[in-house]
Amino acid sequence: MTEHSRSIALIVNGEDVRETVEMRTSLVDFLRERLGLTGSHVGCEQGVCGACTVRLDGVTVRGCLLLAVQCAGSRVETIEGVSDTGEIADLQEAFVRRNALQCGFCTPGMLLSAQELLAQGGVLSREEIRAHLSGNYCRCTGYQAIVDAIEAVARLRLGPRASRPLSLPLEEKERAGRPRSQVVP
Ligand code: FES
Ligand code: FES
Repeated sequence: MTEHSRSIALIVNGEDVRETVEMRTSLVDFLRERLGLTGSHVGCEQGVCGACTVRLDGVTVRGCLLLAVQCAGSRVETIEGVSDTGEIADLQEAFVRRNALQCGFCTPGMLLSAQELLAQGGVLSREEIRAHLSGNYCRCTGYQAIVDAIEAVARLRLGPRASRPLSLPLEEKERAGRPRSQVVP
């Protein structure tokens, strides 16, 4: 350990981790490069794109804006962790079924943000979903299918408690005769 490094202990995806890190190492770089958890991505490194989204003590954060040393003593969950526990299995399945991803670069952060919203429960409007995802950029999908997938999971999780119909999924709108260009997200 040098004057530029610190020894830290934290819990990552349920496992105790003890490492010596440089003070300047960001949380996302620590996760990717030291722990090999490459599901979180590095995009803008300015807190804008959401590619580096992870959970810190239960709350989604930008892994590029935090230093690893700031997370000492905390509980960190990455896309690998929530995938392994099955917590977001329904959401992952909905993303695949509705083609809500292309390159997948944004997808881990998108899934974590979506799960944070879905965990609040209640009936979600497409506007609420879009607002919650506004900090997660996707350059491929146009968001339509992503919102469809999250909306479908919200409906699924609510089950009989879904008191009012959610918006129809895109393909159902198209089957109803509305061309894609006229379908309001
Ligand atoms: Fe962190 Fe873009 S890389 S928000
Ligand atoms: Fe490529 Fe979102 S799937 S950026």
